[in-house]
Amino acid sequence: MPMSRLHTPPVTSRLPTVGTTIFTVMSALAHQHGAVNLGQGFPDFDCDPALLDAVNTAMRAGLNQYPPMAGVPALREAVAAKVEALYGHRYDPGTEITITAGATQGILTIILAIVHPGDEVIVLDPCYDSYEPNIELAGGVAVHVPLAPGSFEPDFALIQAAITPRTRAIIVNTPHNPSATVWSEAHMLRLAELLRDTDIIVIADEVYEHMVFDDQLHQSVARFPELAQRSFIVSSFGKTYHVTGWKVGYVAAPATLTAEFRKVHQFNVFTVNTPMQHGLAAFMADASNHLGLPTFYQRKRDLFREGLAHSRFRLLPSQGSYFQCVDYSAVSDLGEEAFCRWLTAEVGVAAIPLAAFYKTGFDQRFARFCFAKKDETLRLALERLAPL
Ligand SMILES: Cc1ncc(COP(=O)(O)O)c(C=O)c1O
Repeated sequence: MPMSRLHTPPVTSRLPTVGTTIFTVMSALAHQHGAVNLGQGFPDFDCDPALLDAVNTAMRAGLNQYPPMAGVPALREAVAAKVEALYGHRYDPGTEITITAGATQGILTIILAIVHPGDEVIVLDPCYDSYEPNIELAGGVAVHVPLAPGSFEPDFALIQAAITPRTRAIIVNTPHNPSATVWSEAHMLRLAELLRDTDIIVIADEVYEHMVFDDQLHQSVARFPELAQRSFIVSSFGKTYHVTGWKVGYVAAPATLTAEFRKVHQFNVFTVNTPMQHGLAAFMADASNHLGLPTFYQRKRDLFREGLAHSRFRLLPSQGSYFQCVDYSAVSDLGEEAFCRWLTAEVGVAAIPLAAFYKTGFDQRFARFCFAKKDETLRLALERLAPL
């Protein structure tokens, strides 16, 4: 039979196992049931109006055409100054900092730039959901190493055992999504020691760098010269300034790594939107805009934790990021996904099952809440959760 003219050719999927993410599923369910959405990680409050004004000023000033491929120089300079002030390492804005379309594009671009078919990349489970498909798209193999169950501490013996001659990179995420743990100085020193005699590159996902609580310091790889020399740092203006929908971030790395990164970036997005970059550069001139974030989020964390203190949820430590994980085993016998669906539909609060962040679907009876919400949103959620 002749083929119909209206024929869409079939495609062999590059990512056959990828489907709808749990974030989309839970957000849709939250919408359907009118639940308070503490699932997906984004603020329900607006950014500082000064940032909007700065972007508007840039647009009105006619800054609406392609910026330089690596990003607006003033923004790269602002990033270099911030990183140096906080972590003591100077990245050259000309050759070592690139503005990206959010951290997500930064991570994909790094992986496409450095991973060859058959290369292995170590990821520590539970982990952010874009890592593995990114590695697969590059033809690489994600080697999953679990963080210690319960504490989410890195197990360096397991990491060491996972290293092979094919290991190209390791992805480290601190503060950590979903567990809300942070790596200590000792962890970073141990990582440096482990990688010392290797050519393994570190992809440091530091998107929550400005959300570290209880007077702890964010242990950026930039603080450790040995690590900085072999690392790509990824950060996100979206996370930092409450504008996740703007999708602007940056990648900082030594010049030779940045040169390879930019080869891919150039033909991936080429450039990132101009007025947002100018607005962010102007806004960053006031360091209090990021220095005040730990206090801002710690207060929300404490409000949320205090509201659950007398419930049967066991609160895990929340040292950084804007997440709070709970052990709900005293509340329900359901598995994590079933529990989160029940919580959304019957209790009216959406959460994310931790199992969604594990390759193996490991189910510990843990759920993740996002507390980057207005106080009134958190109070409404607490009214529903506290009696459990
Ligand atoms: C660990 C981690 N990395 C990267 C991202 C993506 O950041 P962006 O929105 O800037 O792409 C997220 C967002 O949730 C995240 O949690």
